[in-house]
Amino acid sequence: MTKKRKGSSFNAIGGKRELETVILFTTGKCNAKCAMCFYADDMAKKNEDLPTSEIKKLSESAGSFKRLLLSGGEPTMREDLPEIIEMFYNNNGITDVNFPTNAIKTDRLIEWIGRLRKSCPDLIITVSVSLDGFGDTHDAQRGIVSFYTAAAALKRIDEHFGNDSMVIKNVATIITKYNVKEITDFVTWVYGRFNISTHTIEAARGNTREAGVKILTEKSLREIQDRIAPYYLLYAKRIGAGISNFIKRSIVKSFYVGLMRAMYNLRAKNIEKPTSWEMDCTAGETTLVVDYDGRFRACEMREPLGNVMDYNCDVQAIMNSEAMKKEIEAIGYGYKANCWCTHGCWMMTSINFNPRRMISMLRSGNKETKKLNEEFPVVISEEILQRLEAKYRIDTRKLRQDGILKDSDGQLKKADVA
Ligand SMILES: C[S@@+](CC[C@H](N)C(=O)[O-])C[C@H]1O[C@@H](n2cnc3c(N)ncnc32)[C@H](O)[C@@H]1O
Ligand code: SF4
Ligand code: SF4
Repeated sequence: MTKKRKGSSFNAIGGKRELETVILFTTGKCNAKCAMCFYADDMAKKNEDLPTSEIKKLSESAGSFKRLLLSGGEPTMREDLPEIIEMFYNNNGITDVNFPTNAIKTDRLIEWIGRLRKSCPDLIITVSVSLDGFGDTHDAQRGIVSFYTAAAALKRIDEHFGNDSMVIKNVATIITKYNVKEITDFVTWVYGRFNISTHTIEAARGNTREAGVKILTEKSLREIQDRIAPYYLLYAKRIGAGISNFIKRSIVKSFYVGLMRAMYNLRAKNIEKPTSWEMDCTAGETTLVVDYDGRFRACEMREPLGNVMDYNCDVQAIMNSEAMKKEIEAIGYGYKANCWCTHGCWMMTSINFNPRRMISMLRSGNKETKKLNEEFPVVISEEILQRLEAKYRIDTRKLRQDGILKDSDGQLKKADVA
């Protein structure tokens, strides 16, 4: 039986923990072979994907919740994904969906986002395109030649949804032995060349397909994170540009800058060994992970607790099951978890449920970022971008064909500084 939680900052405020985020591994199929993929072993089981009829039961029993985070496998490999998202929008009132993709199936991706914008008008869609480094580095890490395809996909997403504030355009980069030396250059180039809303940098975690790709230490990760922190002031400007109300704009910008830095600090603290987040991890209380074959978990980093089909796909029964209660007990009631990790999704969800800690983290996150901006100010110019393209042997002819580079006009002429 679960004991009463003690020492929770959330309890002190008096809010209620309930299901907020469902992470759905949509399929076990993938068209890439990434060296760092944490899901390779699961996909290698080659189990059947959970049928849509069973996902429908999950949706119908879950009640209302906020966020649907897709994963996989490659989500664009699941033919009926738009219907599944629409189901959660209509039945559960989700406000946010995160759609990570390697963007190889670009046509389908664009078509689906367009469809969802019409069928789910109030849904904020974060399209998170995986881009792991310059040209050959990206391809080596991804096990497939796809750098120019993913870059062109970003350009097409911009053409279709660049002015649509309901579509958040993200680039996701995972640090490994392959790209570690070029990460700061890559962050500069991505910011300069693509009209994206944000760029998330995660450290490879979990059980990777290829051994030995996780090479970061706290020191090396902090060095990278300190260098890239000022870019979040620039991305905050882009995010804020779509908000006309001055007060709302200032709040959103400082929330974003503070949150990115806070998460990066927690990640650095946990890269070598589990170290307390100094707030509860709410895995299993506010989050449910459903694997592509129906196994379920409290969090992505821990073992499955059963299969949703053993509970007739009833989310209430799953969340209140003895298996889930025991798992929350095993995690250690959040605030004394014994499994602290680097996973951004759970940090973000947990921050939401620990408001006191949130305020202090956001405050210090903003302060640190402003200080780092004085130490490592960002300067981007067309000349710098071209130098990077030459250094990393980028085929500029291809970028030009895809409209990422333009003929003289429209190039970044002036230095862009935070
Ligand atoms: C499992 S993938 C599924 C979506 C899609 N196939 C893709 O790669 O974008 C979801 C996200 O996890 C990232 N990822 C893969 N392996 C990882 C690892 N070992 N640690 C952290 N993130 C990882 C991917 O780069 C991607 O951003
Ligand atoms: S990270 Fe994504 S694209 Fe790469 S192998 Fe894993 S699921 Fe496939
Ligand atoms: S700290 Fe990490 S591994 Fe532990 S329960 Fe939370 S998300 Fe899972």
